[in-house]
Amino acid sequence: MVIKLDEQIEAWELPADHPVDALKEEHELVQQLFDRYLEGGQDSKERKDIGREILMRLDMHMAVEEGVFYPRVREVDAPLVDQCDAEHQAAKELMEQIRGMEDGDVKLRMFRQLADAIESHINTEEKQLFTKLENSDIDLADIGADMQAFEASMIATQTPAWQPGARG
Ligand SMILES: [Fe+2]
Ligand SMILES: [Fe+2]
Repeated sequence: MVIKLDEQIEAWELPADHPVDALKEEHELVQQLFDRYLEGGQDSKERKDIGREILMRLDMHMAVEEGVFYPRVREVDAPLVDQCDAEHQAAKELMEQIRGMEDGDVKLRMFRQLADAIESHINTEEKQLFTKLENSDIDLADIGADMQAFEASMIATQTPAWQPGARG
């Protein structure tokens, strides 16, 4: 999936039959964007663009997980999926606060806090949930196809499922 800085969104290009790998790639990418945002050195316009891209990617990623992935894998470990969902809601609250902020030190601190929250959430998913899934007999290819269709329809209809306040 490629989301350009100008907010145009292209379809997910990762293989649908390996949804866990696709989600991991997105995790990797958003962490790289956080690093770029937090390391500084860029001009304020560039930092603003990177910040906007981070929020957009997270919205999209969480919408697909909440809309398709979590409900479909819930049977593997319901409390763990509930924990993942609660971590999303906490991250969304931080994102909501960040959206209302002017650039500056406070916003930078909030981005750092969000980066830490997302890193911890990625650990929950990758080290616990994904591991359990890979050891289960759940049909990941089928789930991946549904995730891709969900994302494509969000993009095609421009449904702002990833907008603040909306739930997938
Ligand atoms: Fe994720
Ligand atoms: Fe997640």
